[in-house]
Amino acid sequence: MSSAPATSDLVSLTIDGVPLQVRKGTLLVEATKMVKQEIPVYCYHTKLGPAGLCRVCLVEVEGTPKLQIGCNTPVAEGMVVRTRGENVEKGRAMVLELLLVNHPLDCPICDKGGECDLQDYAIAYGRGSSDLADPKTSKPKAVDLGPTIVLDEERCVVCQRCVRFDDLIVGERQLVLKDRGHRNMIATATGDPYRHNFTGNVTELCPVGALTSKTYRFKSRPWDLRRTETSCTQCSVGCRMNIDLRHGNVLRTMSVEGDDAVSDWWLCDRGRYNIGYIDSPERIKQPLLRRDGTFVQIGWDDAFALWAKAIRSAIDAGGPERVAAIGGGRLTNEEAYLLARTMRSLGVKNLDWRAGRQRQATPGSSGGTLLDLERAGAIVTIGESPAELAPVMDLRVRKAVRHGARLIRVAAQEAPPSMPFQDVADVAAAAAAIPANVTRVALIWDGVDNALAHAAFAALSREGRTLLTYIAGEQGNARGAEAMGMLPFAGPGYHVADAGHDFDGICDAALSGKIETLAIFGANPVLNSADGAHVRAALQAIPFLVVTELFMTETAKLASLVLPAAGAFEKSGSMVNLAGDVLPTSAALAPPDGVLGDFEIVVGLARALEIELPDSDEIERATIAAAAALPVGIAFGDERFAGAAKKDLSGEGLRLHVLHHAFAGGGTLAHDERIAALQPEPTAAFAAADADRLGIRAGDRIDLVGAGGTIGDLLAERRDTLAPGNVAFVGLRSGSAANEIAVGSRVRVENIRHSDVPVEA
Ligand code: SF4
Ligand code: SF4
Ligand code: FES
Repeated sequence: MSSAPATSDLVSLTIDGVPLQVRKGTLLVEATKMVKQEIPVYCYHTKLGPAGLCRVCLVEVEGTPKLQIGCNTPVAEGMVVRTRGENVEKGRAMVLELLLVNHPLDCPICDKGGECDLQDYAIAYGRGSSDLADPKTSKPKAVDLGPTIVLDEERCVVCQRCVRFDDLIVGERQLVLKDRGHRNMIATATGDPYRHNFTGNVTELCPVGALTSKTYRFKSRPWDLRRTETSCTQCSVGCRMNIDLRHGNVLRTMSVEGDDAVSDWWLCDRGRYNIGYIDSPERIKQPLLRRDGTFVQIGWDDAFALWAKAIRSAIDAGGPERVAAIGGGRLTNEEAYLLARTMRSLGVKNLDWRAGRQRQATPGSSGGTLLDLERAGAIVTIGESPAELAPVMDLRVRKAVRHGARLIRVAAQEAPPSMPFQDVADVAAAAAAIPANVTRVALIWDGVDNALAHAAFAALSREGRTLLTYIAGEQGNARGAEAMGMLPFAGPGYHVADAGHDFDGICDAALSGKIETLAIFGANPVLNSADGAHVRAALQAIPFLVVTELFMTETAKLASLVLPAAGAFEKSGSMVNLAGDVLPTSAALAPPDGVLGDFEIVVGLARALEIELPDSDEIERATIAAAAALPVGIAFGDERFAGAAKKDLSGEGLRLHVLHHAFAGGGTLAHDERIAALQPEPTAAFAAADADRLGIRAGDRIDLVGAGGTIGDLLAERRDTLAPGNVAFVGLRSGSAANEIAVGSRVRVENIRHSDVPVEA
């Protein structure tokens, strides 16, 4: 919480006759907002700061002969400012006339029409006519800038917000301003497509219709849209997000201005663009029962009755230990709470949300906020890169680095190429690399290796230092699932003395014939676990497997009963993000006919089992209390979360890693044709020493062969950040054999096909 400024930090001034006090150093453009006045801006943006390029922000400051730019003039004691008046209006009108010299009269066909700053300011401050007789300069229109963005050069007002975003916020520096004078234009520096995890933000930053999203072009006028504010659940950051609908269809998502605490006003391209799955024809819209090897459609009442019967017979035959449920990481808090409560009321303890590789989501009492993260003096990452797991959180990391923080990655971690990083071999070296004067250190973990996390915490803890911990894992509401009791050893706010099986234990019990029925809510362990072949065999051994899903995933295909579930935008509730913020999620539209939310699905099951459930007020109170009680008694790298000892994965060959990628995977990403171009080409990355030894050049195509199968036709890449002896596979998708080969097992390279035109690393 920011404390009130001391009186000596304040400056008194008058804006448009209104006296006010603001902090020293505040820019007039921001101070003006406090008195509910507006200074028009193009190049200035609260998150990018001033650039002084467009001059539309002119204001009059008493005692100065010329108009000043409000975006780059700090307040001063006794200052008298006028944001209106004849002089100001003349100045702005002139600026607007110049900006419009070459601007096309595109408003009727421009996507920005109705929410365009040029349109708005031209009406508010422009002259309404022009003396210009010369023809306008024409420039390229509908330039394909990359997989997400189209550029209209004629509309650009050269504010350079897009260029500065790419430089200051993302650190990619792909966009540049090319040429000079009236011929200048926005382009990528290399001529390559504009592509990274945050490109869509430039369409919001662009004050005119020069940069537009391919997915939204020509779809609607802003006044025809119906907006709902919610939280993105695609990863554990939980960015606040606006969903815009027209005629019941989600047409776009937009960031939420003012969301400093979570998104910092940004969205990643996954959160922004993965909306095409909502109206995919492949969605399941009716309960499906496996009968004689094929699925037949049945009604919901029959589905609940069959499911309840399976649970009752399992308990009658062998007790509640023969029943299990998985889910929560992709459910709302309310759904996870109700699922855990329903199962526990039957005596079922085999509950877990961990159907992927992540083991732990709650970072313990040292967990920091996202604002804390950007103020860290050093950031240590262990496990996979937060850039792919929690993209917008990684923008905080980049911000901290920009402000001087040291970024230290333990061993072969990935990071954006433009980051100044320091790789170290182990956590002791990471601790040694932190300058002695740094008192606030952030430790970011992917939630996979508890022993490593525990060791890192111990190595980095020091008297006089604040160590803040974060877990950037695989599933959006994993932390909420833990709080709501979807763990085998803990209910919401209490510990279970006689713990049930975790997901690994459930699989082992299933293979020994000890699990009769398992329900999997919104998870695809056959694709996402570390050993897909093992999970597949375990699920096939379960007599009655129930899966709630949107699509026929690898896991759903094995089910006895598949229940069509609502997507994230089709239900309301709350989630807990990785920083512990409890965030509301709001339904923007109803699920398709025949589809229920997971909450209603649990209620239907409970009714069929004649279990009494709490009313909605009690559920709300219970979930709020559970989310607040979350960090108590949990340590970073807590051994209670650790999995079973790893299988023996020794042997000859390279150790296989399957790295996350923001656009790889199954589920909603696999069923969104509009973003297919963002999915990575399946790639195998080698350390330079291994590539040289094996005769692999960047751009070659190779196969990886392991005990479980072959991952064929991979593009070879060399990565300096990878330790020798490892091969990193990027681009996991449905149908890939990668999930049939255990992560961490040994693979060999076969069938090297050299590229005619080698791509340099
Ligand atoms: S493309 Fe848009 S954001 Fe970029 S410089 Fe032009 S007007 Fe500004
Ligand atoms: S960072 Fe995560 S929560 Fe934020 S927009 Fe991207 S996917 Fe959504
Ligand atoms: S907004 Fe002030 S110069 Fe552009």
